[in-house]
Amino acid sequence: VSRVRVGVVGAGFAAASHIEALRRVPGVEIAGITASTPERSKEAASRLDIVTAYEGYEEMAAAPDIDAIHNCAPNDLHLAINKAVLAAGKHLLSEKPLGLTSDETREIARLAKDASVVTGVCHNYRHFPLVRQAKDMLSSGDHGTPHFVHGTYLQDWLLHPDDWNWRLETEKAGRSRAVADIGSHWMDLAQYVIGSDIERVSARTGRLHEQRIRPEEGPRTFETSSGDGEKVAIETEDMAVVMLQFASGALGALSVSQVSPGRKNALRLMIDTDQVGLGWDQEEPNTLWIGRRDLANSELARDPGLLAPEAAKLAHYPGGHQEGWPDALKNLIADFYSAVAGNGSGSSFATFEDAHHVTRVVEAIMESAGTERWVEVEREEIA
Ligand SMILES: NC(=O)c1ccc[n+]([C@@H]2O[C@H](COP(=O)([O-])OP(=O)(O)OC[C@H]3O[C@@H](n4cnc5c(N)ncnc54)[C@H](O)[C@@H]3O)[C@@H](O)[C@H]2O)c1
Repeated sequence: VSRVRVGVVGAGFAAASHIEALRRVPGVEIAGITASTPERSKEAASRLDIVTAYEGYEEMAAAPDIDAIHNCAPNDLHLAINKAVLAAGKHLLSEKPLGLTSDETREIARLAKDASVVTGVCHNYRHFPLVRQAKDMLSSGDHGTPHFVHGTYLQDWLLHPDDWNWRLETEKAGRSRAVADIGSHWMDLAQYVIGSDIERVSARTGRLHEQRIRPEEGPRTFETSSGDGEKVAIETEDMAVVMLQFASGALGALSVSQVSPGRKNALRLMIDTDQVGLGWDQEEPNTLWIGRRDLANSELARDPGLLAPEAAKLAHYPGGHQEGWPDALKNLIADFYSAVAGNGSGSSFATFEDAHHVTRVVEAIMESAGTERWVEVEREEIA
């Protein structure tokens, strides 16, 4: 059996989680890795038990024995890496965002549209079984039409002034931080579940720390910093409140923060229709809350026997055998390689066009926070 040979660009949090998931997906083999320097590539290959260390992404893109590449590098490198991968005619699964600005994401979305390879973006929260269940309940038409979509995405790992990560540097991460880094996932998820795009926004952003302490050597994502270093001014937001309007007419509200004590990865999505309230919490992903006005509320367990057919396909263990974040990433990667194998008609991973729209919504949020006005952001068709 010929396997798809995968190269991974990056060696931090995202790359390590992709590698762990790839090892659990049949039909693929991890054929190489590359990090920021040839030395770090070798160190990563040894740490993650991968045979080949490439000197850089250019060498990996050119390698004849690589069929597909996962781009797990910091944001400022996404455009250049994605362009190199598409120019080399390889399948491409990219981490979000696709670029630092919507000019960059438009450029790569156009290239992806013309490419004859499979391209996808890691909005991995789509791939939890109970998220799919909520989507399928709503699209069946039996549970009413969403009129209010609300929730949070809260974390605490950047709470202290000496917490540090490349995401705090505008040149590496982009002009928005909390909204682009995590709010983008919530917005993609809300659009996916209700089947309608965000097209108007109004927002305020805030910063807990005007200055932070940058260490000489940056810790990896979610790692604790030593606390020593120089004070630098911070330009991006620690938190935001966003009012949203969807194309369907539904209203929305989102709170985003990377400075909320005790909230580790609190992505919570709640959807109200005239018949049910649906609530899903990433930190308790094995239940879907179903609220009713005239009946008792209930909690649907992630039990394949109880789920709609497409949701059941994403649940790999019986009810009570908990699945979580790494399993949803595995579902995304399996979905992507099913499309690579030619079975892409039922794919649910985010497209480059979807991710371009999310980046435009993020920019609209930043514009609204600056002008204190509603900003329109209709989906742009990629010609
Ligand atoms: N979908 C998700 O849930 C999710 C979660 C975390 C991160 N991400 C995304 O993944 C990307 C990486 O984030 P992270 O948290 O893993 O960061 P990280 O700091 O943990 O890792 C970044 C890695 O990139 C490597 N790198 C730097 N320059 C490179 C180069 N020129 N070539 C190859 N590798 C290079 C670094 O050596 C490091 O290993 C970001 O774009 C982020 O938005 C997505």
